[in-house]
Amino acid sequence: MSRRPLIAGNWKMHLTVTESVQLAEAIAATGSNCPDRDVLIAPPFTALAAVSNAVAKSPLLVAAQNVAWEQQGAFTGEISPTMLTDLGVAWAIVGHSERRQIFGESSAMINRRLHGALANAVHPILCIGETLTERESEQTFAVLQQQIEEGLDQVTAEQLHNIVLAYEPVWAIGTGKTATKEQAQEVHAFIRGLLTTMYEKSLADSIRILYGGSVKPDNIDDLMAQTDIDGVLVGGAALQAESFSRIICFQ
Ligand code: 13P
Repeated sequence: MSRRPLIAGNWKMHLTVTESVQLAEAIAATGSNCPDRDVLIAPPFTALAAVSNAVAKSPLLVAAQNVAWEQQGAFTGEISPTMLTDLGVAWAIVGHSERRQIFGESSAMINRRLHGALANAVHPILCIGETLTERESEQTFAVLQQQIEEGLDQVTAEQLHNIVLAYEPVWAIGTGKTATKEQAQEVHAFIRGLLTTMYEKSLADSIRILYGGSVKPDNIDDLMAQTDIDGVLVGGAALQAESFSRIICFQ
C-alpha cells in the first residue's frame, strides 16, 4: 500500500502576517522541487487569510491549528470550520498536546472539533501522544489507544478517509529529544494495528500517520524510511525555509 507522504509544518504561536507570507512563499517554491509529496503549513489564525491567498496557486496545503465544532455562535475566542473554508483553508490540526495539556482540552472536546471539521469539509489532523511519565510507566499503548478510540468516536469509515493521524510523543516536542526511528515505527505500527481492529484493514492501510517531535533535517531521512511513518508534523524546524525545505525534500 503506498501512501503519499505528507510533510506538515505547525508554526504554533509564531510569526507576523508579513513573516508568514514570506515563509509560505519560500516553502511553496521549494515544494515544487519535490512534487511527489504533499506539503502543508499551519500558520497562526491571524495569518491564515494572507497565507491562503499568497499560496492559492500552488499545491501547498494550508491548515488552521485548531477548529471549533459549531459554524457560528457564542463561542468567544473560537474559529469555526466554515470561517476556515471561507478563507480556502481545508485542513485543521485537532488535539495537539499543547491544546490538551496547556488549555485542558479533553478527548471528548477534541472529538467534537474533529466532527465539526468533517461536517464542513475540513480535513482534521488528529494528534495523539504520551507524556514521559506515561512512557516510563509503560502506559504508552494504553494512552494512545484511549486517545484514538475517544478521538475517533462515531467516525465512520467514509469519514476516516479524510483524517490524518499524527503521533507526537509529548516528551519529544520542542525538547530536541526525537523518538528513535525504532520507537516511532513501533508506535506507528501499533496505531495502524489498532485502526485495523476498528475499521477494514485496507482502510487502515491507507491512512497516513505522521510523526512529530523534534523532527530536523538530520533525522528526517531515517524517520521517513520507516514502513509506517507516512510523514511528519514539524514545529521548530518548520519556521525556517531552509530547514523545512530540507525536510520536505527528504530522501
Ligand atoms: P517540534 O518539532 O518543535 O518538536 O514540535 C513538534 C510539534 O509539536 C508539531 O506539532
